Amino acid sequence: MSVTVRTLAPGDRPALKALLMAEGAFRDDEVAVALELIDEALAGADSGYWVRVAELGAEVAGYICYGPTPMTEATYDLYWLVVGAQFRRRGVARALARAMEGDLSARGGGSVRVETSDTEGYGAARRLYEALGYPMACRLADFYRPGDDLIIYYKRL
Ligand SMILES: CC(C)(COP(=O)(O)OP(=O)(O)OC[C@H]1O[C@@H](n2cnc3c(N)ncnc32)[C@H](O)[C@@H]1OP(=O)(O)O)[C@@H](O)C(=O)NCCC(=O)NCCS
Repeated sequence: MSVTVRTLAPGDRPALKALLMAEGAFRDDEVAVALELIDEALAGADSGYWVRVAELGAEVAGYICYGPTPMTEATYDLYWLVVGAQFRRRGVARALARAMEGDLSARGGGSVRVETSDTEGYGAARRLYEALGYPMACRLADFYRPGDDLIIYYKRL
C-alpha cells in the first residue's frame, strides 16, 4: 500500500485529534498546542502554519505541520510530525517530510529547524531526522526540565 500526501481539509480535524490523543507520548498541553496549530492552518495559508496529511489506503495515517520562522528570510520550523502507531515504519513520516521539503523548495528553499527532546519517548523522532539527513546543530542541556535536553536539527534545503 502506498502513502499519499495531500493538503489539509476541514474534515481532517477529528482524525488528527484522534492521532494526537492516541499518542501516549504527548501531554495534554502539547495536544492542545498541536490542535491550535491545526486550527490556524485551517484558518488559511496566511496564518503561517501549514499542514500536510498522509493517507495509507483510505485512512489518515499522520500529518506534518510546518511554517515560516518569524523574523527570518527563508527559515522554516517543522512544528509537529505524528504518525499513528499502527502505521509506523512504513515510510509515512519520510513521505510527509519529503512533501514539506518539496513545498519549501518550490517556495525558493532555505533551511528547516526541528526542535525535539532528548528523552526516550522521542528516540524514533531523532532516528527519523538523522535518517532524513537533518544534522544535529545543538543541544541545550536541561531545557525542558532537569534531564530533558532540547536538541535542534537544522537542514539547508
Ligand atoms: C517519529 C515518527 C513520526 C516516525 O514515523 P514513521 O512513519 O514510523 O517513520 P518512517 O517509517 O517514515 O521512518 C523513516 C526512517 O526513520 C527511522 N526511524 C523511524 N522510526 C524509527 C524507530 N522507531 N526506530 C529506529 N529508526 C526509526 C528509520 O531510519 C526509518 O527508515 P526504515 O524504516 O527504512 O529503517 C513516529 O514514530 C511518531 O509519530 N512518533 C511519535 C510522535 C513523535 O515523536 N513525533 C516527532 C516529534 S513532534
